[in-house]
Amino acid sequence: MTTKSSIYLTALTVFLLFSHSTRAQHTPPQLTDKASIEAVVAAMTLPEKAALVVGGNKDVLQQVNEEIIGAQSDRVPGAAGQTQAVPRLGIPSIVLADGPMGVRINATREGDDRTYYATKFPSPNVLASSWDTALVRKVGWATGRELKAYGIDLLLAPGMNIQTYLLNGRNYEYFSEDPLLTGIMATAHVKGVQANGVGATIKHFTAFNQRANNTVNAIIRQRALREIYLRGFKIAVKQASPWALMDAYNKINGVWATENEELLTDVLREEWGFDGFTMTDWEFTPRDEAQQMRAGTNLLMPGREEQQKAIIEAVETGKLDEAVLDRRVSEILGIIIRTPTFKGHTPSGDPDLDLHARIAREAAADGMILLKNEGDALPVSSANRLAIFGTPHIETMTGGRGSALVSARYAVGIPEGLKTAGYQLDEDLRKRYRNYVDSLRATEEYEKTEGDFFVSTYPKLPEMDIAKEARIAAESSDLGLILLASEHGTYGSDRSLEDFYLSESHQKMIADVSQAFKKAGKPVVVILNTEGPLEIASWKDKVDAILLAWQPGQELGHALADVLTGRVNPSGKLPQTLPADYRDLPYADRYPGKPEAFEYTEDIYVGYRYHSTFQVDPVYEFGYGLSYTTFEYTALEIEHTPFDGKANISVTVKNAGDRPGREVVQLYVEAPEGGLENPALELKAFGKTRELLPGDAQTLHFELDAQTLASFDPNRSAWILQKGSYAVLAGASSEDIRQTTTFTVGDEIVVEEVRDVLAPEKEIEVLSRSN
Ligand code: BGC
Repeated sequence: MTTKSSIYLTALTVFLLFSHSTRAQHTPPQLTDKASIEAVVAAMTLPEKAALVVGGNKDVLQQVNEEIIGAQSDRVPGAAGQTQAVPRLGIPSIVLADGPMGVRINATREGDDRTYYATKFPSPNVLASSWDTALVRKVGWATGRELKAYGIDLLLAPGMNIQTYLLNGRNYEYFSEDPLLTGIMATAHVKGVQANGVGATIKHFTAFNQRANNTVNAIIRQRALREIYLRGFKIAVKQASPWALMDAYNKINGVWATENEELLTDVLREEWGFDGFTMTDWEFTPRDEAQQMRAGTNLLMPGREEQQKAIIEAVETGKLDEAVLDRRVSEILGIIIRTPTFKGHTPSGDPDLDLHARIAREAAADGMILLKNEGDALPVSSANRLAIFGTPHIETMTGGRGSALVSARYAVGIPEGLKTAGYQLDEDLRKRYRNYVDSLRATEEYEKTEGDFFVSTYPKLPEMDIAKEARIAAESSDLGLILLASEHGTYGSDRSLEDFYLSESHQKMIADVSQAFKKAGKPVVVILNTEGPLEIASWKDKVDAILLAWQPGQELGHALADVLTGRVNPSGKLPQTLPADYRDLPYADRYPGKPEAFEYTEDIYVGYRYHSTFQVDPVYEFGYGLSYTTFEYTALEIEHTPFDGKANISVTVKNAGDRPGREVVQLYVEAPEGGLENPALELKAFGKTRELLPGDAQTLHFELDAQTLASFDPNRSAWILQKGSYAVLAGASSEDIRQTTTFTVGDEIVVEEVRDVLAPEKEIEVLSRSN
């Protein structure tokens, strides 16, 4: 090479190097799509990576050691949180908002005349009571529309913990005691939300069943974990691909959920194929950040500066492999590129609240459960005069604290809804109640607090003595309506036995009204507007009808009127067993409490699995609910016997009464004896008919696969379908079985072998059919 050409080459190299490095300095790779993620991560500095895996709540950073007042996003006031941006690489901050009853943001903003109301939908236990996946999907869809309209990328819902313990203070945020119903409802909700191009976050993963002590160590055997506490999440992950998942606060078998690699990596990502990102719950107690990253937690929320520092330090000292951090960052970026914020969507600020209110009303009415209706007390024509008893009708309790708080545009009270429907109310009685409630609310003991995140706004009032008024009202009205409502005290606690059992003053009210109306030959109807089950057995014979409305959200009064008038024929069924007495429950002597560690000794016998196997009669069983019409079940048929991995089942349902109505058909399966012990029966599929006119029939089709039918054998760490004869029961509830058939599994089928993970540290003694 000549000197000239070598000088030329050196100059060229210098130029190229220089131009490359200037380009690297001035135009680093930008996040544009999936293919760009690798280069973006490679270009990120360690502090930038640490920033991405720690939420960006500046308010909270400063308040961390002060009293915590709930996290905040500064982009969307009232939203629970946001991630941190890395503008240099085109990574925006995305916004996350609660929750299970609708979008939780502030309705008003400083220096802004516009309003940002959201629709308060019924609580998830109402949605599950409808057993109507199309409806739940619609609710999810409307919620997703509001997220998008308000510039929010991710919803922090649906909550899908199992209602194992009746007094868990957050049960209303969840669907059911049954994992299949939970998984299917969550799937519908997530699909609805995500149809808008925004994300859903399934939560709280898993076994978050105690509110009083968030940080309890939940000790659960592998079988119960797999069959009860993981199953619903698995269904939702596999069928709905949620963008995100929120870890639980608690430990599972000795390991914090957020630090649990077996849970977050082995099971969630590797077994189930989850491809979104995971976040911690809004955690203010220090944990091991490096272990959280290694385990598979992507995002630490709401985010504290110390966490960011800890992650940087962990990488610098070799405690955390940077490649692990890179993976966590890439997984978050994989979702960020799908968000409206990333795509430059301009929020309209103007969701169709009228349309969504109609959906909320439909959902509220469809989720109401008619528990009793003697002498066809209901429906009752709107030409009738009603006398309403019970202090809660003076105030409108739509329910939901904490993450379920929603600033709705309005809430329709019960009297208001009934009047709009045309009923005439006993106004003298109402005035008496108004004065009584006002006088109590003026006292310190019963003072109403305003919109508090943690504390109920409505401390429960004792009932007034209305023996005399009931006699007068019974003469002048056609029907007595008793409203029992409750929101339990504080968000940070579980419900108590006082929330379950009626007080003396409530019992007396029921007795007095019942006596007066019976004497006058008029019916009495009880409406339960409660977040969870109440004791019913002691008073149910005194009244003619009972309607369980749970917490129906902002359309409470309208939806109730829809069902009372018969405009909507109730079709809800219980997603949770209503026990006759709290003492009947296998954990009655241990819950509520505030233990450091809690052994799930009922094991797989949760809810109806317990009641049906051990023959403990509830007051109303799982899956139960009446209609204003009746249904006949015929022709339960099954293809494929012996079983070859799939069974197609059909059953025909006919409306045998004289009003249009819908029926929820439940398919339970009774596994053969021998081998693993199983509950007496388990829900394996369900369907809801369209509205059937009198005389009309519909054939519902179900497909049962081996995975749904299998039981988990911890000794082999595998899902097994035992050989033998399986009974398929088509029921109107878990006890009201209308048609039965069988199929046979010739040889045992090992459906799936999985990793032997999540074992308790020690053996625990559990309930079993043999002890
Ligand atoms: C709750 C979560 C909620 C989060 C953000 C936590 O206290 O457990 O369910 O999404 O706060 O508000």
